[in-house]
Amino acid sequence: MNMTDILTHVEDGVMTITLNRLERKNSITSAMYGAMADAIGQAASDPQIRVALLQGHETVFSAGNDIGDFLNQPPAGQDAPVFRFLRGIASFPKPLVAAVCGPAVGIGTTMLFHCDLVYAGDNAAFSMPFVNLGLCPEAGSSLLVPRMLGYHRAAEALLLGEPFMAEAALEVGLVNRVVPPMEANGVARSIARKLAAKPPSSLAETKRLMKKELAQQVLQQMAQEGASFGRMLGEPAAKEAFGAFMEKRKPDFTKL
Ligand code: COA
Repeated sequence: MNMTDILTHVEDGVMTITLNRLERKNSITSAMYGAMADAIGQAASDPQIRVALLQGHETVFSAGNDIGDFLNQPPAGQDAPVFRFLRGIASFPKPLVAAVCGPAVGIGTTMLFHCDLVYAGDNAAFSMPFVNLGLCPEAGSSLLVPRMLGYHRAAEALLLGEPFMAEAALEVGLVNRVVPPMEANGVARSIARKLAAKPPSSLAETKRLMKKELAQQVLQQMAQEGASFGRMLGEPAAKEAFGAFMEKRKPDFTKL
C-alpha cells in the first residue's frame, strides 16, 4: 500500500480518515482496509478522540473494493482486514460522520449505514451492484438497507443494482444534507467538531441506546454475509463479472 492511500489526521478531538487513492477512484485494497481498521480502533480507544470522520475526494468517495486486489487476495475468514474494518465501524462507540461526493460503489455505500451523520455533495451517486458482480450484499446491508429504504426500494438498489443520487438518498434518510461537492468535507468537519465539544459519555450512551436493538443482529448478519460473499467470490458468476471488468467488456451471465 502507498502510505498516502489512507490519510489520518487528528485535530480538535476529531480523527479524519481520508480515502486518498484518486488514480484508482479510491478503490480499497486489503492493506487499506487494515489501515482503516487500525485507525478506527485507535479512535475508539483514545479518549482524546471524540468523533471520527470518513471522507473521500470531492469527485469520488470510493469505487468500492479494489477488484484486482480482491481477486489476488480474497478476504480469508472473519479476521480479514475488510471484516475488521466493518466490525470496527459497526461497533464504533463514538459519533461517526461521513462526507460523500461522486461515486460511492459497493462498500462505499454500505459503510454509510454505520455512520451517524452523512453529508453528501450533490454529485454523490450511491450504488450497491453486488448482484451484477455475482456476489451478495455485505456490511450488514441486507439487513440495514430494507430497514431504511423499505423493501421495494431496497430490492431496486440490491437486486437490480440501480444507482441513486444524493437527492434520493436525502429523501430516504441515508443522507442528512446535500451540499455543493466542494463544501461537503468542510460541512462534515464542522459538524464533527460540534459533536466533539459535547459530553462524550452522553454521546456514547445515546448512540448505544439508539443502536442496541439491532447491534447483535447486525454483527450476525455481517458474519453470514461475509461467509456467502467469500464463497461466491470463487464461483463462476463473480469470475465472469470480474473478468469482464478487467477486460473492459460487458459480462455474460446467460450460460450460468
Ligand atoms: N478496482 C480496481 N480498479 C478500479 C476500480 C476498482 N473498484 N474502480 C476504478 N478502477 C480503476 C479503473 O480500472 C481505471 O483504471 P485504468 O485507468 O487503468 O483504466 C481507473 O481506476 C479510473 O477508473 P474509470 O472507470 O476510468 O473512472 P470513471 O470516472 O469513468 O468511473 C467508477 C468511476 C467508480 C464509476 C468506475 O470506475 C467503476 O464503476 N468502478 C468499479 C466499481 C465496482 O464495481 N466496484 C466493486 C465493488 S465490490
